[in-house]
Amino acid sequence: MKKIAVLFSGKGSNFAHIVKYLHNKELQVVVALTNNPNAEGIAVAKEHDIPLETVDSKQFENRESFDRAVLERLRPYRAELTVLAGFMRILTPVFTQSVKAVNLHPSLLPRHKGLNAIEKSYHDEFDEGGVTIHYVSSELDGGEIVLQKSIPKEGLDFTAYDAKVRILEKEALSEAIVSILSGARK
Ligand code: GAR
Repeated sequence: MKKIAVLFSGKGSNFAHIVKYLHNKELQVVVALTNNPNAEGIAVAKEHDIPLETVDSKQFENRESFDRAVLERLRPYRAELTVLAGFMRILTPVFTQSVKAVNLHPSLLPRHKGLNAIEKSYHDEFDEGGVTIHYVSSELDGGEIVLQKSIPKEGLDFTAYDAKVRILEKEALSEAIVSILSGARK
């Protein structure tokens, strides 16, 4: 079975979705890693006996030393693909040049890179928002796009729009992971 690593920083609902629908079926999550020792998503790893690595980003002086520590922790698990599922860190070339990774971002990139992308998408001038899965490069939310899914905003208040994003991002991330691992995408 193909092996993936999943990185998260907070709630971990996207990590939980991968575990529920893909783990031990389409693929194996061989390790989960968080930069936040208080992340709620840690409970998901524990519940499913998925090895968990915690690399507390607050303990590092700079991004490069943090990235080196993450690489060291991930290396023994030999994942073919690393999935950033709500991992709120900007990665440097130390990481991006040696790991094949995809990131989930809740906007139609290149619109609204960075934080608060759901709010910014909802309030912008376009009729549609959406989500993007892209390869990770050292440019924030800037790597090659794997797939995007859009959401028409008409008739939705912010709460309804946000709820749709949270559902669609999980579908998009699963679809992208499966298609990359199957070789349908490079
Ligand atoms: C998700 O909405 C994801 O799209 C977003 O963080 C949330 C994490 O939720 N990611 C980004 O904004 C990345 N720049 P989760 O912890 O429940 O998976």
